[in-house]
Amino acid sequence: MKRIVFIPFMIIVMLLTACGSSESASVPDVASSDKAAVQEKLNKTDSSKPDDDSGKDADSTSSQGETSSGKKILVAYFSRADENYKVGNIEKGNTQIVAEYIAKEVGADSFHIETVTPYPTGYDECCDVAKQEQKDKARPEIKGSVDSIGQYDIVFLGYPIWWGDMPMAVYTFLEKYDLSDKVIIPFCTHEGSGLSGTDKNIAGAVPKAQVLTALDMRGATAQEFNSDTQKTVREWLDKLGF
Ligand SMILES: Cc1cc2nc3c(=O)[nH]c(=O)nc-3n(C[C@H](O)[C@H](O)[C@H](O)COP(=O)(O)O)c2cc1C
Repeated sequence: MKRIVFIPFMIIVMLLTACGSSESASVPDVASSDKAAVQEKLNKTDSSKPDDDSGKDADSTSSQGETSSGKKILVAYFSRADENYKVGNIEKGNTQIVAEYIAKEVGADSFHIETVTPYPTGYDECCDVAKQEQKDKARPEIKGSVDSIGQYDIVFLGYPIWWGDMPMAVYTFLEKYDLSDKVIIPFCTHEGSGLSGTDKNIAGAVPKAQVLTALDMRGATAQEFNSDTQKTVREWLDKLGF
């Protein structure tokens, strides 16, 4: 997809999704039930977690610690570096920058959802591949695996908006692991589409999980990640009870 096509496409997506997304990141309202759901998971005293290794081939989870209650949190995210809209050629993907901050703040393990077949480094070429995958409802194979998904109670799930949805590899992730008893907290980066209903798509893919209030922000805002952006993410985490 060429830029000239992509820009009007995004305007249509923005109108259709009526997302109300602003230029910079804003702290979403968080229902008290969301905070209660987080607290319930954090306060659970049972430390005998099932050692569910479903989907495991090689552990690629990087450990950054546990919460003080011993309950582990996972930040799983899809993010692509290289050439992208607004930000040009980047060494680290926009969503990854937010993911790393969240993992540090909440003391979580992290897992980078990467496809076995990498996406093209060029923006236009990547758009074409992503569009075709969406059309095909593809489930691209992902590299590595999460070490014992059963040990996690809370999963932050980060992704960019691609063509008004999550990249298809995020669906691969959601279908590969049993997340049914988890609290899932989505966060996304985009360039105008906002969440685009992806929180509902996650709930549809994992009906038994509790999907909490998501954070969304512009990719360029995430890439810059200045003190205001940091404050926004921190306030959202505070509201959720982290
Ligand atoms: C294949 C592709 C499709 C995209 N589709 C959309 C879109 O539909 N709406 C939107 O707001 N931004 C869209 N974007 C912009 C990305 O959502 C945005 O740049 C995001 O921050 C990228 O995150 P990442 O660097 O973590 O991969 C698209 C970008 C790419 C590469």
